[in-house]
Amino acid sequence: MSTATAVIEDQGTTNALGYHSFSAGKYRFERDEYFAHIYYPGGRHLMHIEAFLRALMRDVGWGFFYGTVNFDDVLGTLNHYGTVDLFVGLLNQAYKSNNRHYVETFNSKDLKKVFEAMLDDWTNEGFDPYAAPDETGNPYGPKHGNNTKALKRERIVAKRMVGLPGDLPIRTDAAGQPVNRQFLDVPQDAPEVHAEPGFEGEVHAFNMFGYTSRSDVTWNPSVVSNVKDSQICATTEEHMLPIFHGNDRVEWFIQICDEIVWEIADGKTGAPRAKVVMRAGDVAAMPADIRHKGYSPKRSILIVWENNDGTLPQRYSSGQLKPYPVEF
Ligand code: PHB
Ligand code: FE
Repeated sequence: MSTATAVIEDQGTTNALGYHSFSAGKYRFERDEYFAHIYYPGGRHLMHIEAFLRALMRDVGWGFFYGTVNFDDVLGTLNHYGTVDLFVGLLNQAYKSNNRHYVETFNSKDLKKVFEAMLDDWTNEGFDPYAAPDETGNPYGPKHGNNTKALKRERIVAKRMVGLPGDLPIRTDAAGQPVNRQFLDVPQDAPEVHAEPGFEGEVHAFNMFGYTSRSDVTWNPSVVSNVKDSQICATTEEHMLPIFHGNDRVEWFIQICDEIVWEIADGKTGAPRAKVVMRAGDVAAMPADIRHKGYSPKRSILIVWENNDGTLPQRYSSGQLKPYPVEF
């Protein structure tokens, strides 16, 4: 496998629609009014521009995430935490068995720079790739304006827990974080904390449902509490997860309200494995050898529980750990 460098090309020139092209190693990316075109040695791939930008936003915003970010059945990135593979067909049975797949490895920092520049150039004014489709404009047409502000949102990560001194603040109307239109029935009161004498500085609570109901983004988990490697990530979901996530470790989902339907497929081949319907109160452990994509007909709240232990990918891929956490 080669290690390629990523370069941001053609800074001066644009196509007739006003978009720049970008390259990374032997890949070349172009956009037109409706599609992203991905050229690579041996072929050419195409994606609907809205799907492409929504997936690219997650890949950039999450620093290539845990394991695999599949933009669709063909194109994706595989995180090696420092380096990253950009692949076509690597995790697609038909491409792989016919030897039509293509992979290049990059320094994560280099590829991220190219992806950030491409996302910024290809996102027009009025389109926010983190927003629900009903809360944003469309991404089509010739280049017009930009939405750099929306793209620069940092992934929100609590050091210990939301609301602690020196940590992430509680969200409020005054700070410009109103309750979302779909969550007007979510109680906004705060829990009362009555600590035993002597423990006043050691007990904390906040209204996580109220906090999450004020999120203006979808399918973008933010860490609300962090204890060693245990990360509780809360997120609001509406429409569909723009990627098919292939994790390199077990990941737990807790459905807080409403309903998400998960499509589960084999992590390596993409062969369908299951449909999981999660309703309020349901808990599921997503195994380490699958990929998953969620569909949320109405805006819902989901907790994703991640294990940040960096030794896990190797322990799962070597077979030392089983891909699922419990046996019944
Ligand atoms: C996931 O891939 O597990 C995931 C990603 C984003 C979400 C929820 C789940 O908002
Ligand atoms: Fe996942």
